[in-house]
Amino acid sequence: MATTHINTQEIPGRVFFTEGNNDLPKVVIKTARSTADLYLQGAQVTHFQKTGEPPVLWTSQLSRFETGTPIRGGIPVIFPWFGPREDMPSHGFARTQTWELREISQLPGGVVSLRLGLPDSAEAALLPAFKADLWITVGDTLAAELVVANTSPSDEFAFECCFHTYFHVGGIDAVSITGLQGVEYIDQCDKFARKIEAADRIRITQETDRIYLDTTGPVEIHDTKLGRRIRVDKTGSFSTVVWNPWAAKAQRMPDFGSDEYLEMVCVESGNINDNTITLPAGKSSCMKIELSTLPL
Ligand code: BG6
Repeated sequence: MATTHINTQEIPGRVFFTEGNNDLPKVVIKTARSTADLYLQGAQVTHFQKTGEPPVLWTSQLSRFETGTPIRGGIPVIFPWFGPREDMPSHGFARTQTWELREISQLPGGVVSLRLGLPDSAEAALLPAFKADLWITVGDTLAAELVVANTSPSDEFAFECCFHTYFHVGGIDAVSITGLQGVEYIDQCDKFARKIEAADRIRITQETDRIYLDTTGPVEIHDTKLGRRIRVDKTGSFSTVVWNPWAAKAQRMPDFGSDEYLEMVCVESGNINDNTITLPAGKSSCMKIELSTLPL
C-alpha cells in the first residue's frame, strides 16, 4: 500500500504523544472515523472508538498504570507464553515491557499505522534470538499484527502468543458469541477438561475461561443492548480464548472493579497450548486480527 508519510514524529491532527495515566507515555491517534489510545508499555491499545459509537474496547476503572504492571484492558500482547510459568511473569513479558515506537505511517483515507518493536531484555536473552514487531492500524477498523522472526542461526524458537482483547459490551446478559460451535476447547474452569463446544450462540452466565483450539474462523460478539456486533477476523491465529472472571474472581482481582465483569468479555486470538508455534531458525510468523463493528 502506498504511504504518504513515514516517521516517528507526531502528525498534526492525527497522532499525538502525551502522558497517560500516572504519566506513562501514550500515543493518541485520531482518524476521520475513529480514535485510539496506545500505551508504549506493552504496546497496548487501551481505547478504540468509532465516531458516534460506544467504545469497542474495555479498560478497567481500577487498572493500575504502573511501570512493570500489566494494564487491565484494551489489547494486552501476550508473548512468548500464555498463562503462568514458574518463576516468570504470567502471560509472558511483552505486556510489561516498554516497546519502541519505530514508525508511524499515514495511509490513504486518513488511516494511521504504527510499528513498535519489543526491546532487548534479560528475559528475552534467555530464549533463542528473535525479533518481535507489532503493527497497529487505526481506521474504520482496528488491526493488530504481531510478526515474530527467529533470528537464531541454528535454534528453533517455540512460543505462544495472544491478543488478549477486552471488549466493551452493553451488558453481559445481552451478549452471545458465535463462530466456535463444534470446536474443541480446554475448560480452565473445569480442571482443564477437553470438551467440544455445543452452542451455536455462547452465553456467559458464570466464570468462563476456555481455550478453543484449531480454530481460524471469525468470531462475533452479538450485543442486543448496544444493538451491534463486534467481529473479530484473524489470520495466523489458531486458538481463541473466551474469558469473563464473573463476580467472585473479579472481587479477588485488585485491578478489576467488582461489578465490571457485567460490561466486558475477552475474546482473545492467539496460538496457545496445542497451537504453540515452533519457528525453525531464520523463519518468521505473523498473527493478525481486525476488529470491526456492524449492526445486529
Ligand atoms: C485469560 C486466562 O486469558 O487471562 C485466564 O485464560 C486469566 O486464566 C486471565 O485469569 C487474566 O490473566 P491476568 O494475568 O491478566 O490476570
